Amino acid sequence: MYAALQKELDTYQKRTPKSRDAHQRAMSRVPIGVGSNYRYYPPYPLFVRDGKGSRIHDIDGNEYLDHNLCYGALFAGHCHPSVMKAVGERLKIGTLFGMPHGMELELADLICERFPVEMVRFGNSGSEVTMHSLRLARAVTGRTKIIKMEGGYHGGHDAVSVSVKPKEGQFGDPEHPTPVVSSAGVLRGTSDATLVAPFNNVPAVEKLFQENPEQVAAVIVEPIMMNIAFCMPDEGYLQRLRELSSKYGALLIMDEVKTGGKLAYGGACEYFNVKPDILCLGKSIGGGFSLAAFAASRSVMDVIAQQKMFHAGTYNTNPVVMAAGIATFKEVLTREAFAHVGKLNAKLVDGYQAIIKRAGLIAHADGAGANGALLFYPHRVRNYRDWYHVDEDVWTHYWFAMANRGILSQPYWWDEQWTISVQHTEEDIDEHLQVFAEVAPALAAAQEERMTVGPLGTHTS
Ligand SMILES: Cc1ncc(COP(=O)(O)O)c(C=O)c1O
Repeated sequence: MYAALQKELDTYQKRTPKSRDAHQRAMSRVPIGVGSNYRYYPPYPLFVRDGKGSRIHDIDGNEYLDHNLCYGALFAGHCHPSVMKAVGERLKIGTLFGMPHGMELELADLICERFPVEMVRFGNSGSEVTMHSLRLARAVTGRTKIIKMEGGYHGGHDAVSVSVKPKEGQFGDPEHPTPVVSSAGVLRGTSDATLVAPFNNVPAVEKLFQENPEQVAAVIVEPIMMNIAFCMPDEGYLQRLRELSSKYGALLIMDEVKTGGKLAYGGACEYFNVKPDILCLGKSIGGGFSLAAFAASRSVMDVIAQQKMFHAGTYNTNPVVMAAGIATFKEVLTREAFAHVGKLNAKLVDGYQAIIKRAGLIAHADGAGANGALLFYPHRVRNYRDWYHVDEDVWTHYWFAMANRGILSQPYWWDEQWTISVQHTEEDIDEHLQVFAEVAPALAAAQEERMTVGPLGTHTS
């Protein structure tokens, strides 16, 4: 650890003693003191008190401009008035029945109007809907194997807990990655059924199809890989995946849990003009409530309609979340909102690029829709193996330096990205850029010093 980074960590600890104590106490009952592994980071995570609009407060009373926004689940921002109103009205008349009501159809209609799908089933989390999408693809094709991309994250279930963050020494040939199980406890044999390809590499996917004839049920892909910070697909890449999936009789699953309510009005389907066989939605479509969905054509969904495939859940389509979802689709995810956020994001990305240049940083800023990221890498990353070489220490320095000055520039961890909500303003972006401009020279100095001492950062996670 170098001195300038240590100084930011010391400042963080001085500003946030209540978070440190709360975390210490939580660890006695809650493993790593957090409810989801991603939320832990050293020395301890910020504990949050409240949020409104684009701002949150931690339990020490520090205010932050929030670009974490619950890992990108809050395109609506905190406590969006339209969503709060709809939920408030539902709270008075019953929250949970486990019985159908008119809102399933209303929200399914809203989804089918803007995405190229005909039928929808709802769930509560991204993991649930990617899990059921894979089951759906297997049920439709009668095949077992799936293809996922190296570094891709699709939730916590076994089939996709493969090659999420594989390490050098395990991950093998970059053109033909070795599937690496990413958690203890994953069912043995999972890595035989989950084949792994590098992102942005069409021949590698075709090779997997040829090596596993008539065995692949689905290709699951995140259109912009946002679990390696921010990685755009090459021109035509998603179209080629579409063609290959059809050619080899597999279904294309687009995991739009992150892009769905944030990249564009019609998500990545509209932005890249691709039609998947199965679409997964989550995060921002709930406006701050736990709503997710998988959707497909009538013919694909027929295996559920005919009751051959099972999909159920006590909390599915509960009225509170559905009211939030309907309000979000009607009043938050509007074309005007995407234009507003897109403008702010362009300003942020351009501002970052200008500051990077001025400060002499070896870094690259990228973004689209409501998301973007700063990567300590000389140019755009194309796949996991590129991202693997980002400098973690300088990124850590960046994150704490920004947080100490009141900007949560993104969730902690360098595989994440910033989100801009409909409630962010031009002034918020100006403030963010002003703080980055203040911090950038120290980051550049750290980079220079480290280059004279040794190689870029080493991997710890
Ligand atoms: C692309 C993608 N798919 C699925 C998931 C899982 O969603 P959830 O955390 O709601 O289970 C995530 C979560 O970050 C994600 O980024």
